[in-house]
Amino acid sequence: MSAHEHAPIKPKVTPIYQTSVFTFNDLNELEAYYDQPGQHYMYSRFGNPNSDELAAEVNKLEKGDGAVVTSSGMSAILTAILTFCQAGDHVLCAEEIYGGSATLLAQELKRLGITVTFVPTEQTYELSSFVQENTKALLAETISNPLLTVLDIARMAALCREHQLKLIIDNTFASPVITRPLELGADLVMHSVTKYLAGHSDVTAGVIVAKGEENTKRIRQIVMYYGLNLSPFDSWLAARGLKTLRLRIKQHNSNALKIARFLSQHPKVRRIYYPGLENHPQHALAQQQGNGLFGGMLSFQISDELEKVNAFMQALPNIPFAPSLAGVTTSISHPLKTSHRSFSPEQQEKLGITLGLIRLSVGIEEAEDLIQELDTALAVI
Ligand SMILES: Cc1ncc(COP(=O)(O)O)c(C=O)c1O
Repeated sequence: MSAHEHAPIKPKVTPIYQTSVFTFNDLNELEAYYDQPGQHYMYSRFGNPNSDELAAEVNKLEKGDGAVVTSSGMSAILTAILTFCQAGDHVLCAEEIYGGSATLLAQELKRLGITVTFVPTEQTYELSSFVQENTKALLAETISNPLLTVLDIARMAALCREHQLKLIIDNTFASPVITRPLELGADLVMHSVTKYLAGHSDVTAGVIVAKGEENTKRIRQIVMYYGLNLSPFDSWLAARGLKTLRLRIKQHNSNALKIARFLSQHPKVRRIYYPGLENHPQHALAQQQGNGLFGGMLSFQISDELEKVNAFMQALPNIPFAPSLAGVTTSISHPLKTSHRSFSPEQQEKLGITLGLIRLSVGIEEAEDLIQELDTALAVI
């Protein structure tokens, strides 16, 4: 007996549609697929129920007009840029950005004829100095990787409108629980779903959420024709993780605040970057734009001596050095040697990305246990 001959099966959770293609009885059914977009499926690269469920849930959280999920955060950035740009166009990009995004723009998209200018942090809101006749879009992060600089999105959106630029926001570090860039005037928001949205360090995925039907349609085409789609299983895993996003973010935030306060008092810590601390340069903005939440990411500066950095890492038995972030368990990363390795030494020095800069992705464990472990490791150096 085939599955179709059973009484209707009514699962509470969407099953995994692990299929590359869908079947049709005849040409009438095929026409229904074309006549009622989004209601039928044909080929998983064009659309799959698990990918669509994940996209719809993120779209709701970001309050967008449509969302499409992709194979990674990188393919989401690529899609976002290609939505507005073609050969001959120019893009502005915040200087403090994930290293992969910088390399994609400066190296790969340059080969395709899309050029980039990086806007120095101290001139973030002085766009007239950087806009060219062919500038089409600006890419920036809500909370920057790895230095936790907070962008005033409403202010940037107003400036972009003035210069007729599309504003693309990478909301990976914040998540829509903290900030919803589309409500503040951004045109597109994207995420490395790999991070907070999926949340369990077991999926690589991305998403783009758009304002406007036209943008959503274009995004769908790019994902389909470049083959940037996400697999059904990864979509399912990410959709599962997403269900606890709100709870996780609250705990990440409360732990990070406690740890940031502890580190800011510690004699071995030279500097700490966390928007939840009162002395962070954008604390007031972060408070208002983030509804009182600042997230689970923080960075701090210890000694720049290699032996001390290694000794610190080795003295953290339960906090692994893992060059990613936003999982339920705490991990550390090292921007200079991983995410920002591609930056020039001058850029690294200017931004303060030195050997002693440690990025901490605070998990949802008991804060006191994490503090104890960090205290023990700092005592070693
Ligand atoms: C802020 C940010 N954006 C985008 C990406 C790229 O995402 P993925 O690794 O899922 O391709 C990363 C990855 O570390 C990131 O930290």
